[in-house]
Amino acid sequence: MLECRAISKTYRIEGREVAALRDFDLHLPAGSLTVLVGPSGCGKTTALRLLAGLEQPTAGAIVRSGGKPLGVGYVFQEPRLMPWLSVARNVGFALEGRAPKPDITARVAEILDVMGLGDFADARPDQLSGGMASRAGLARALVTRPELLLLDEPFAALDAMTRRRLQAELVAVWQRLRPTIVFVTHDIEEAALLADSVCLMERGVIAERYANRVPRPRDPTDLAIVELRRAIIAGFEAGESRKSNT
Ligand SMILES: Nc1ncnc2c1ncn2[C@@H]1O[C@H](COP(=O)(O)OP(=O)(O)OP(=O)(O)O)[C@@H](O)[C@H]1O
Ligand SMILES: [Mg+2]
Repeated sequence: MLECRAISKTYRIEGREVAALRDFDLHLPAGSLTVLVGPSGCGKTTALRLLAGLEQPTAGAIVRSGGKPLGVGYVFQEPRLMPWLSVARNVGFALEGRAPKPDITARVAEILDVMGLGDFADARPDQLSGGMASRAGLARALVTRPELLLLDEPFAALDAMTRRRLQAELVAVWQRLRPTIVFVTHDIEEAALLADSVCLMERGVIAERYANRVPRPRDPTDLAIVELRRAIIAGFEAGESRKSNT
């Protein structure tokens, strides 16, 4: 279990203070799949960066039960592959020196196959399309089998069919290995299909939380999914009108 307790994160931009998170509380039961949605600039990436330990909060704390650090996989909003390494070495990089070479090779090959990149193991990142590069970024995060998997709009650059396939693949990995997942998206349908819990963020806080107990596998046309999407959209619109009233 992982918890953000009353987290604030303030950035200073040209002498001006910007509160990216304000009294942000988030409870992540072990093995849960939480989706964060919310308008651009509301603090989603900041929340992931703090959960990953890439940055420290200005106030508040991130509390882990057991207190020990978690293995973290992070899929960045942009793929961030190392341009001088092959796709296979990019994906296996975090395992180098931590596992025997043949094991790394086998694990990398397996995950590249899952992501449909089997034929591109030896390619360089600049030879990939945008969608392929984002799949390589996902492969790199999954290969270490992290306990905490943080994904920042990982499928935004993918075509609809590939996106559907990778959503299913992510859910399959989650059901098999049960990492705790925090997934950021702008796509409400994607949020409703994937999440146990959808958190709607608004200006640095969680404004609404929607539990999602629809059984899996889920169908986007299922009435319960459609209703959840409608509820999230209504939450968004309520937030927009609050903003224009302040
Ligand atoms: N490194 C930084 N330095 C200064 N300000 C930052 C930094 N990172 C984020 N911010 C500010 O914090 C706020 C939240 O940014 P964040 O990247 O978390 O938003 P987001 O919800 O991920 O948006 P998007 O949907 O556009 O990715 C913004 O106002 C942004 O300008
Ligand atoms: Mg972001």
